[in-house]
Amino acid sequence: MIDIDEWTITQAVLKVQAGTQDARLRRVLDSLVRHLHDFAREVELTEAEWAQGIDFLTRVGHITDDRRQEFILLSDVMGLSTLVTAQNNRRPAGCTEATVFGPFYVPDAPACRNGDDIANGARGQPCFVSGTVRGIGGEPVAGATIAVWQSDEDGTYDVQRPGLDHAEGRGRLASAADGRYHFRSILAVPYPIPHDGPVGQLLERTGRHPWRPAHLHFMIQAPGYETLVTHVFRAGDEYLESDAVFGVRSSLVADWQPHGPGTAPDGTRMDTPFHTLDYDFVLNPA
Ligand code: BEZ
Ligand code: FE
Repeated sequence: MIDIDEWTITQAVLKVQAGTQDARLRRVLDSLVRHLHDFAREVELTEAEWAQGIDFLTRVGHITDDRRQEFILLSDVMGLSTLVTAQNNRRPAGCTEATVFGPFYVPDAPACRNGDDIANGARGQPCFVSGTVRGIGGEPVAGATIAVWQSDEDGTYDVQRPGLDHAEGRGRLASAADGRYHFRSILAVPYPIPHDGPVGQLLERTGRHPWRPAHLHFMIQAPGYETLVTHVFRAGDEYLESDAVFGVRSSLVADWQPHGPGTAPDGTRMDTPFHTLDYDFVLNPA
């Protein structure tokens, strides 16, 4: 009989896991067990604390009425999403940086043409967005699929509005032969990530706020290039230095120009104020 105690337990688990056929799975699990055990030893985890931890994780995994659970959110606020994104998207200088995906992407967003209004009813100040998609060599990338998604002026994404039966603030367009793209939408605003659940409680207990600085989400895909998942942030936003999910990169912060009533870049006569954003994306060859 071999007695297992607090010092031999780690080796005992690693030994039984040694039969794992999949070498990558074994490496990941072994490391996870070693770090988990070291964590429990380091903080001298009590039984009551671990029961609380299990209760917290159970609540994080609970599917809410709007069919969401909070594991991605937990990964985001603990910086793990940003770490995993960063270490898997190391690109040469000059390429557009990637950042966190977030939970509000929808794969089958409406297909749009350049110039379309992707707000599609979402409320907010008008905003005209344009730019060029290029490769790292400066070549224009034609026919790149550009998926864009954003919240409305209340900081709400369409998928967070129960009963809404159509897409708002999202679309998929293609870059033109010269790599250019342009669309109309609404001005991005700062908004809080969902904080009415266990992750919100964690933020509160740790004295953190749930706000993200104003941004547009982009996913750009083109044959022969690596897929780019990123945001463009609004310069001057008060939350740029304290994004709740650590997604900001200074290279992704852009000036969104305010305009009074007048003629928009696409020739539309605007009788209300509007903004424009021009932002170029640089893709890395696959
Ligand atoms: C977002 O930007 O949509 C987002 C990212 C991480 C967590 C919640 C929301
Ligand atoms: Fe967002």
